[in-house]
Amino acid sequence: MKLALELALEVAREAGTLLLELQRKPLEIREKTRRADIVTLADGASERLIIERLHAEYPNAAILTEESGLHKGTSNERWIVDPLDGTTNFAHGYPMWNVSIAYEREGEITAGVVYAPAMEECFTAERGSGARLNGAAIRVSEIARLREALVCTGFHPANFARNGRHFATVSDHAQAVRRDGAAALDLAYIACGRFDGFWEFDLPPWDVGAGILLIREAGGTVTRTDGAAYAPGDDSILATNGSIHGELAAVLL
Ligand code: IPD
Ligand code: CA
Ligand code: CA
Repeated sequence: MKLALELALEVAREAGTLLLELQRKPLEIREKTRRADIVTLADGASERLIIERLHAEYPNAAILTEESGLHKGTSNERWIVDPLDGTTNFAHGYPMWNVSIAYEREGEITAGVVYAPAMEECFTAERGSGARLNGAAIRVSEIARLREALVCTGFHPANFARNGRHFATVSDHAQAVRRDGAAALDLAYIACGRFDGFWEFDLPPWDVGAGILLIREAGGTVTRTDGAAYAPGDDSILATNGSIHGELAAVLL
């Protein structure tokens, strides 16, 4: 049996290649739950490929995915998958989109991949072995003050107003705030030091599974926005390089 990280990497690359191919064809874009929450034919095609490949190698593991939910397993293992994170970016040819695959054993995420095919960047992490970008070790930034920090956020399509207030407040304190539209990649960018902090509300597990392992393995910190311990599925997330964590948490109160 292939090791989880090796398999996740292989499958993410296959899904990425498929997505690049599909991006050149009609995407059949439709609104999923509401305006500003879209899904394309490519989301489903990527998901089907990933489920088939993961299930063939790990037939007992559960698989949790965005488009088809939980595929139950019989072991204490679970794959957590976003087959296309950043669908809106993908549909517009903005390169910030990715395939995110995390592997969890006994409730703990031990391997994760965030692959951004349009930028040929692949972020990987294994618990206890650090985080990597295209094979080279990465670390979070050393920025120590919020006024020097580049911070990112995202918006849940059901409630833009809730985070709008925080977007304005953090903009008043940080060097700048970005909204790049692909949560898993936003987290990966903290792991490699491009962003110094990230927060969002109501993110589901498939958006954060691989990203939080990347950040922790790269020396960063992940909590809820109120500073309490974070678990995938919690209604808020605050991820930083560690140094600006307290300052950013205070601004988000
Ligand atoms: C979305 C993106 C976006 C975040 C949304 C997510 P999707 O994922 O990660 O950055 O703000 O909350 O739903 O729908 O493109 O997979
Ligand atoms: Ca997503
Ligand atoms: Ca998605």
